[in-house]
This record gives sequence, structure tokens and C-alpha cells, in this order.
Amino acid sequence: MSRKKIVAGNWKMNTSLTEASELVKRVVKEAGNAPVIKIFFPPFTFLKPVADELTSSNDFFMGAQNCSEHEKGAYTGEISASMISSVGGKYVLVGHSERRTYFKESNEQLTQKIQQALKNNLVPVFCFGEQLAERKSDKHFDTVMKQLTVLKNFPKEQVQNFVLAYEPVWAIGTGETATPQQAQEMHAYIRKTLSEMFDASLASGISILYGGSCNAQNAKELFSCADVDGGLIGGASLKAEDFCKIINSF
Ligand code: PGA
Repeated sequence: MSRKKIVAGNWKMNTSLTEASELVKRVVKEAGNAPVIKIFFPPFTFLKPVADELTSSNDFFMGAQNCSEHEKGAYTGEISASMISSVGGKYVLVGHSERRTYFKESNEQLTQKIQQALKNNLVPVFCFGEQLAERKSDKHFDTVMKQLTVLKNFPKEQVQNFVLAYEPVWAIGTGETATPQQAQEMHAYIRKTLSEMFDASLASGISILYGGSCNAQNAKELFSCADVDGGLIGGASLKAEDFCKIINSF
């Protein structure tokens, strides 16, 4: 099991079809040679067009920002993991803080979403992180530990292939990023927790990304931390030049 370097762009509810395909084309052209796994998380409507741009490109993948916890059926407006897989998706974000906050996603729902992802050969990118009040009151480790308990619902053989993304909520979209020391400290804590929950080889082999106002200026320092394997990038992934710089920050 090898730890992979990954830079992923979470576009959230942004871009038109034209903007989506121009952005992907530029990134493929300008950052295609970087020896890093690159993942685009476009809105559902642009999954297929983005996947089509990537068919002949190495180390580029497409994923979805969410999937239903249900397999299929009468769930108007929902998108299933099998649909994502059928248009070429390889990854799916599960547990992003915006989903937890605005859509009240519970640990039970997140578990079901991961089950659906696995059934359909999608790699879950499991996101978690503390709120500002939790950090201020020194509860950030406890919060993360509780969020990580979702992983206990899966065997080691499955979890070792997940990607994790630590995203402190106070850093998402705020321009206030975690310092490299704060990121490293939490990533080391996550590995220690995983080592107790599973074993040392899973803990040292799994890729853990940092997310939260990571940009072209601070990516290098964040990615140089021993336990940070890359980034989940929001705002800065919408600008081709910035995203390429971040990809080249290792
Ligand atoms: P940000 O978002 O880079 O805009 O802070 C990160 C994320 O929400 O994944």
C-alpha cells in the first residue's frame, strides 16, 4: 500500500459547461506532467463532459461532490453512486462540511453513502474537520476523533483504499488557512488514531489531504509537512493558473 500525492479541485456549485471544459483543458495541458494524482470534482451536470476531456490523460480523474445513500428509485433530485460510476467517475466526496452543515448529513447517512460508493467502485474521499468554536475551546482533536468513528463501520481492507481530507471548517472559504504546524499536528493525530483503530500500516499508508483556503501561495509549505499528502482545493481550483501552481507545489 503506497501513500499517494493528490491534488483535488472541489468546484462546489460553480462554472458553466463552457467554463468547466476550458478549465479542465488548461489544467490538463499545463499540469499534465506533474507526478501527482489530479482529481476534478465538478457539479453533477458536468461530470460526463469533464470525464470525456480526461480519457487520454494520465493521472487525471473525475469524481462527484456527493452521492445518494440510496441505491436507486423514487428519490427525486438525487444522484446515485452507480450513475456517477457509469459516466466515468472514480471518486466521490463524502462528508464535506457544507453537506454536514446545510444538509444535516449524519454519521449514519455518511456510512450509507460510503457503502454505496464502495459497491460501485468509487473511492470515497472522506472529509471532516472541526468548527472554529471547537478549536478555540481545544476540542478539535475530540471532534475529529468522533468524525473518524464512521470508518469503524468498514474493514481495514476497504479503509486502506480511502482518501481522507482534513478540512477545518474555520479555514474553508475564509482565506484563513491552518498554519503548516496546525495541519501537521492534526494529520499526525489522525494517523495515530487510525493506528489505534486499525493498524500502523494502514495509518502510515493512507493519503490524508489538507483543505481550507489552500492556494498557490501557501500550498508548498503545507504540502511539505510530513503527514500532508496533498490538498482538497475549493476557490483556488476554479482558476487554472492557480490550480496548476498548486499541483506543482510538491
Ligand atoms: P476552499 O474550500 O479552498 O475554498 O477553502 C475547500 C473545500 O471546501 O474543499
